[in-house]
Amino acid sequence: MTNKEKELASLYEKMEAQIAVLYAPDKKRLVRGDGSAQSSIVLIGEAPGEQEALEGRPFVGKAGRVLDEFLQLSGIARSSLYITNTVKVRPTAISRAGRTINRAPNAEELALFAPWLKKELSIIKPKLIVTLGNVALRAISEQKSAVIGKFHGEFTLVPAGFRVYPIYHPAAVIYNRSLREVYESDLKKLNEFIKTNDI
Ligand code: URA
Repeated sequence: MTNKEKELASLYEKMEAQIAVLYAPDKKRLVRGDGSAQSSIVLIGEAPGEQEALEGRPFVGKAGRVLDEFLQLSGIARSSLYITNTVKVRPTAISRAGRTINRAPNAEELALFAPWLKKELSIIKPKLIVTLGNVALRAISEQKSAVIGKFHGEFTLVPAGFRVYPIYHPAAVIYNRSLREVYESDLKKLNEFIKTNDI
């Protein structure tokens, strides 16, 4: 194990211990980040869904296909990518029909996970962070009212000193076809940046 791997493992163990206490009644599972700790690019999503919570890995099942398309359009090799979520437990609600469904992360979850995300990034020290959607953008920019419509497709420096490239969340692109063109053009720009900067 490299030092980074050891530090990440120890961070996740601490998080798991805290999660076990905080979410004891629901037995929520922490979905750790996935990929090589040496990756030069970190991709940050929103939160795990049902399949992610079951398998303990981000972007699997339906969301995995979204990830495959991201890789294809951005030209990023899976091996140079570390994938994690802003909130690392599945935010759930009970539907009227009594089913457990996904919901957007709430303020408590965001506040709980924000320092952990910072620590995770300070261990990996990526050259570039790609955020998907509003939730990850707000966490990383520390601007609670930042909107992806304004920030997408532009490289920015965030308070922690990282270079960040925000893009729309692919799930939003599935629900809103009009975002398709800008999503693809943002990924093309990302691809060019990576090639020219040898990331
Ligand atoms: N799956 C994840 O792990 N994160 C997302 O943001 C969406 C799906």
